[in-house]
Amino acid sequence: MPETDLASDNYAPVHPAIVAAIAEVNTGHQPSYGADPTTVKLTRVLEEELGQAVTVLPALTGTGANVVGVTALTPRWGAVVTSSHGHMIGEEGGAPVRLSGIPLLPVPSANGKLDVADLERIDWHDGFVHSPQATTLSIANTTELGTVYTSDEIAALCRWAHARGMLVHLDGARIFNALAATGASLADMTVRAGVDVFSIGATKTGALAAEAVVVANPSVTGADFVHKFLMQLPSKARFISVQVLALFTDELGLRLAAHANEMARSLAQQLTDRARDGRIPAPEFTQEVESNQIFLRLPADVAARMRRNVHFYDWDASRSEVRWVTAWDTSVEDISAFADLVERAYRERG
Ligand SMILES: Cc1ncc(COP(=O)(O)O)c(C=O)c1O
Repeated sequence: MPETDLASDNYAPVHPAIVAAIAEVNTGHQPSYGADPTTVKLTRVLEEELGQAVTVLPALTGTGANVVGVTALTPRWGAVVTSSHGHMIGEEGGAPVRLSGIPLLPVPSANGKLDVADLERIDWHDGFVHSPQATTLSIANTTELGTVYTSDEIAALCRWAHARGMLVHLDGARIFNALAATGASLADMTVRAGVDVFSIGATKTGALAAEAVVVANPSVTGADFVHKFLMQLPSKARFISVQVLALFTDELGLRLAAHANEMARSLAQQLTDRARDGRIPAPEFTQEVESNQIFLRLPADVAARMRRNVHFYDWDASRSEVRWVTAWDTSVEDISAFADLVERAYRERG
């Protein structure tokens, strides 16, 4: 049996280096609310990575980081354009709408990615007083469907948005997976591509609970106030910042994410190989496996048999689509054991 299941990278434990990093800053009194030396150091490290000055706002959850990011970017009359699969649309309990009153304008996308052609096809009703104005573009890398934007693709979206006077937000809840998948630098994927505000997610990569909102565009003002009133400003910020910092030490975040990506790729390959050998039917992947998430169609009875031993979520039960997610602690043995479970479930079916 696999030691870990493939329900979510959120199911994974905290990486020991993160636990050690938290313990290391757990001494004495330090200034609160981000004025501590650890948050200052995180800002310096990110400024070195990015090659420019930024404001770094440590945050508690990915949803919180997203709401802070888009609220900082969006005027009272504005709206956020995002993929129809956007996390903000379906999985944040309506947080940007409820907390900040920001309308979301979903753009249909088969694979979670947007491209300029998709966006140009739409009449945005610019200047029409009756319509929410499309002022902010929000994308996620990796996307909610595990697909990955290249830096060039992001740059093209930023050029389109900026030419229209819009600003760009990037949800980086799994940005390390995107960096590992593309080989791009953080600077290439964000500031050099033209992203105005982005988040760096640490939790899903291996941290306990930590994200950082990075404000790269100096004309975006007031993000620190937004951070506070949206309840994402932790008083003991050092313990949050140190988790993000640890992922930038010895490339830990990149290494953990590359491993998780590799485990997903390996599972997809094992299923394809077993199908070629006639041991299971051909796997019906519904998305390209580009990072640490696998989406595929699995007959309900096969999924039910597997669930006697492992937990994973339905993605779209109406079309028997499930999601498997690998994490920093998914082992090579887990992947083989998981593929064995798939094979056994089909065999029992007869
Ligand atoms: C792409 C993406 N953004 C944001 C989030 C939100 O993170 P959290 O659950 O910490 O609020 C998630 C969580 O799964 C996610 O997948």
